Amino acid sequence: MSTERVPVELCKGINGLDKVVLKEVRGSSAEVYLYGAHVTSWKNDHGEELLFVSNKATFKPPKAIRGGIPICFPQFSSDGSLEQHGFARNRLWSIDTDPPPFPTVGTNKAFIDLLLKTSEEDMKVWPHSYEFRLRVTLGPGGDLMLTSRIRNTNTDGKPFQFTFAYHTYFSVSDISEVRVEGLETIDYLDTLKGRERCTEQGDAITFESEVDRVYVSTPTKIAILDHEKKRTLVLRKDGLPDAVVWNPWDKKAKAMADFGDEEYKHMLCIEAASVEKPIILKPGEEWKGRQELSAVPSSYCSGQLDPQRVLQGS
Ligand code: BG6
Repeated sequence: MSTERVPVELCKGINGLDKVVLKEVRGSSAEVYLYGAHVTSWKNDHGEELLFVSNKATFKPPKAIRGGIPICFPQFSSDGSLEQHGFARNRLWSIDTDPPPFPTVGTNKAFIDLLLKTSEEDMKVWPHSYEFRLRVTLGPGGDLMLTSRIRNTNTDGKPFQFTFAYHTYFSVSDISEVRVEGLETIDYLDTLKGRERCTEQGDAITFESEVDRVYVSTPTKIAILDHEKKRTLVLRKDGLPDAVVWNPWDKKAKAMADFGDEEYKHMLCIEAASVEKPIILKPGEEWKGRQELSAVPSSYCSGQLDPQRVLQGS
C-alpha cells in the first residue's frame, strides 16, 4: 500500500460545492473552492488554521463566502457600477488544464490553476472580454502563494480598467492584542471618513474600534504580530501597490447576516490590492499580481516582540 500523500485532490466541500485540497509533505494544507476561486483554508504543519472563515458563512451562491480569501475583481468596493467587490468572487471558476507556462515552476510544490472567462451574462454589466488565470500554490515550507494573470482578450480594440484585491481574512487570537507592522508613515484613504486622505502616525497599527482603510503605495512586506499565538503572519505582495486594512468591530459585525456578533475579535483583513489607481490593459496585454503568505514563530527581543527582525528577515 502506498503511503504517498496526494498533493492535489478534487472533492466535494460544504453544500456539495467542488473544492481542491492541496497538501504538502510536512503536513500543511490549503483548500480552494471553485466557487469564487476562493481559498477557504490554509493550515500550517501542526494543522492550525491560519485563515478566518465565519461560522455563519453560507457557502451558497450567489453570496460570496464570508472569510478565507475572496478575489475582488474587476472592482474593489462599491466604487463603480458593479456589485460590491466585483463578480469574480461569486462566479464558478473552472480548472485550467492548459495554462500558459509560468517562468518558474518548482516541482516540489502543490498547485492548482483556475480560470475565469467572460460570460454573456457578465458582458451585460462589464462589456469586456478577458481571461483571468489564478494559480494557488502551497510551497514546501507551507507558504501560500496566489498569482493572478489577467489578460485583455477584447477583439474590438478597446482597453479596459479594473481594481483588484486579495481580500484575505487572517485568523487572530484577539484583535485588541495584535499589531500590524510595515505600514507606518504610509498615507491611507479612510473609508469611514469618505476616503479622506490621512497619514499613519503610529509605529504600528493596533485595533480598538472599526477600521476600514486603503493604505496607498505601501512596502511589499506587511506583518501581523500575534503575541498570544506567538506567531507572525507575513504578507508579501507584487504588482499590488495598495493594502486594505479592515475589521468591522461590533456594530458592523451585528449588521452582517453571515458573520457572528463576536467574530470580529478573531479576524483581521489585510488585503493586497490595487485600488487608488485602476489597472489599465490594452487588448493582448496581461497584468500579473501576486501575494505570498507565510507564518513564522514570533521572535523576541528583551521579552518584546521584535517587529524589525520579522520585517527585515527574508
Ligand atoms: C473591505 C471593505 O475590503 O470589505 C469594507 O474595505 C467592506 O468596506 C468589507 O465592508 C466587506 O465587504 P463585503 O462585501 O464582503 O461585505
